[in-house]
Amino acid sequence: MNPLTHVAIIMDGNGRWGLKYKNSRNAGHKAGLITVEKIIKESIKNKIQFLTLYAFSTENWKRPKKEVKFLFSLLENFLKDKIDDLNKQKIKLKIIGKKNFSLNLNKLLIISEKKTSKNKRLQINLALNYGSKAELINAFKELKKNKETINEKNIRKYLQTKNIPDPDILIRTGNTKRLSNFLLWQAAYSEIFFEKKLWPDFNEKNYNKIIKNYKNIKRNFGNI
Ligand code: IPE
Ligand code: IPE
Ligand code: MG
Repeated sequence: MNPLTHVAIIMDGNGRWGLKYKNSRNAGHKAGLITVEKIIKESIKNKIQFLTLYAFSTENWKRPKKEVKFLFSLLENFLKDKIDDLNKQKIKLKIIGKKNFSLNLNKLLIISEKKTSKNKRLQINLALNYGSKAELINAFKELKKNKETINEKNIRKYLQTKNIPDPDILIRTGNTKRLSNFLLWQAAYSEIFFEKKLWPDFNEKNYNKIIKNYKNIKRNFGNI
């Protein structure tokens, strides 16, 4: 049975869910938060150490201003409401991606990271304004600036996920089979699961089924 340390999720399908059931994309984003809470709980039950959630990509700025604004207000309210509870559950929050939001949100993110920084039960990496290409470009620039050799170990050192093992499982919900600029380096050997369900419909049962399947996969890493 494969050990399971890190699950990464592309939480896709909120907009379509919202349009289908509530005639509003934003309603889908709100519903998606409930799934986030379910999956956090289930990750703890499964003793997973790292959960990386793709919440906003560097490309998502192309969306209508109204939707972008709603997404960040949702995040702000979620953190304000839940950070103490997450802290009590010994969850550590880490933001991956560039924090260039409103002053208030930037502050809230930094405070939330600080508050939970010593927690050891589950680390949630929230990918916000995250893009794998930007992350890699930044790493190469750092290597050049510091005149360091280009090798795997040194590249890793400058990734936002330094000190985090690569994801064992990568899940994308929403019936689309692509990576959308998510963890391109880190997912080199991840087991990838494309899930038909839209994110707000994804549940503990679906998650556990993926985990169970993963545990029985023969992972070769190039070997036989
Ligand atoms: C993913 O859901 C959440 C974010 C990108 C913020 P989408 O908003 O992409 O939902 P669909 O793919 O349009 O249904
Ligand atoms: C990927 O979903 C980003 C997040 C889930 C945050 P998108 O819906 O933005 O991806 P594309 O644009 O359809 O590839
Ligand atoms: Mg989408």
